[in-house]
Amino acid sequence: MPDTIIAGRTPTSPTLDEKALARALSGHHLIGGQLVPAGSGRTFPVVNPATGEEVATAALGDASDVERAVAAAAAAQKAWAKVPARKRGEMVGACAKAIGEHVEELGRLIALETGKALRTESRVEANVVADIFAFYGGLGSELKGETVPFHPDVLSMTVREPLGVVGAIIPWNVPMLLMALKVAPALVAGNAVVVKSAEEAPLAVLRICEILNRILPPGLFNMLSGFGPECGAPLVEHPKVRKVTFTGSVEVGRIVGQAAAKKLIPVTLELGGKSPMIVFDDCDLERTVMGAITSMRFTRQGQSCTAASRIYVHEKIFDAFAASLAAKVDAMVMGDPLDERTDIGTIISGDQFAKVKGFIDEGLATPGATGRACSAMPADAALKKGLFIQPHIFTGLSRESRLVREEIFGPVTVLFPFNDWQQVLAEANDSEYGLAASVWTNNLKVGLRMAHALEAGLVQINQNLVVQANLSYGGVKSSGLGKEASLEAMLEHFMHKKTIMVNMA
Ligand code: NAI
Ligand code: MG
Repeated sequence: MPDTIIAGRTPTSPTLDEKALARALSGHHLIGGQLVPAGSGRTFPVVNPATGEEVATAALGDASDVERAVAAAAAAQKAWAKVPARKRGEMVGACAKAIGEHVEELGRLIALETGKALRTESRVEANVVADIFAFYGGLGSELKGETVPFHPDVLSMTVREPLGVVGAIIPWNVPMLLMALKVAPALVAGNAVVVKSAEEAPLAVLRICEILNRILPPGLFNMLSGFGPECGAPLVEHPKVRKVTFTGSVEVGRIVGQAAAKKLIPVTLELGGKSPMIVFDDCDLERTVMGAITSMRFTRQGQSCTAASRIYVHEKIFDAFAASLAAKVDAMVMGDPLDERTDIGTIISGDQFAKVKGFIDEGLATPGATGRACSAMPADAALKKGLFIQPHIFTGLSRESRLVREEIFGPVTVLFPFNDWQQVLAEANDSEYGLAASVWTNNLKVGLRMAHALEAGLVQINQNLVVQANLSYGGVKSSGLGKEASLEAMLEHFMHKKTIMVNMA
């Protein structure tokens, strides 16, 4: 018998009724293992961006909720740190299995609240979350220290210890995945976590938190919804929070970094990007055009910090590349995010919609520039209030244009021709950002030369995949501080190293 869903009571088994699940999750944080309302009793609406309908409410968190969540986390962390590391890993691994059973449900729920297409994005994200928990679950035995040759009569060694309570602040573009990259390693390392979800996407992450709480001790992993200044800032500033990990805008990253500096606690910042894609004339053209579609994350409406939002193409193939790219994006289907036929869903919110439109209008009004609108707006009357924006491909913009220098976080990319590798390298590096880059060529010597010289945390040759659980990820320049994903990120960013010396003389 499937569970019946009533407000305030969520089903324990997976459900495919995402609207009922959204209503049941309404108005809650998860603190100390319980779904609870905000201390103030206040809520804010969660809107389906494909229809404009309110699908749920979320608890409006403030400093008093932060206080409750951090207290629960601090209490749970003491016992958790004493659980053998391998056992902690086993329990986090068990979470992977539980999440795996809910993939379809989580995919539908995240599609409902973010407008990301189920087939191309939302279901994929849910699967990656399970994979991240599985990866970290296997690493419990790897929290090793070293012995250091200091003196024949002295045994000198390092041991790794958890930091305590970790505060994690996440954005809305891939909220389940970005949360998993913080929570899974933090927990295996022996920390407790308080997550502040993004105001636009609080539901699927809350559901994951609830699923994990069936396996993990109550209070170890808590979730608050609310706005940045009222709920995120007090979390960062709380004296018992001993580490902050943040993903979002550069602007807020600086605020979070400063607050962490004031407390002298470690901070990891995963911020924006303006990632170059460099296409040489010896590339495999069709494969590279398909690669540009993936790189630009058109299926996510370009709402990705690694989106290839500047594409430099060798002049010999520039026209062919531009025509083929436009034709392929034209063939993509924009529509209802929950429809399996849909490739491209909606922009997340009215604010982002206005921001992206502003960039497009500015580009279209620029003398000498051309902005090609691709794909067709959905015809379905039920979607007429949906936040759909046609992908735009710009050519003829100046290097100083705001569309070339600033992160748009929408389905907009700019193309430039080049004929000299040194000049294109200098242009690619002429950016405040340094998150990711890709180079497309069959000449590996050229590819590697570029890979070494590009200022970015991640460079890929002839592919442009999203972040992977076992590969270190993080930007340079204004794109961030510290690394996420990988064993090293867990050891270096969620633990500290203690030195112990024993005099045996
Ligand atoms: P944001 O940086 O304002 O929000 C990210 C998270 O930080 C949210 O959970 C928010 O509530 C929280 N936050 C906001 N102010 C805070 C504060 N003072 N203290 C603590 N936490 C705070 O990003 P927003 O407004 O959603 O998007 C603006 C732009 O940021 C986008 O257009 C895009 O360019 C960029 N962005 C980059 C992301 C990435 O993956 N690097 C993700 C989301 C946005
Ligand atoms: Mg903001």
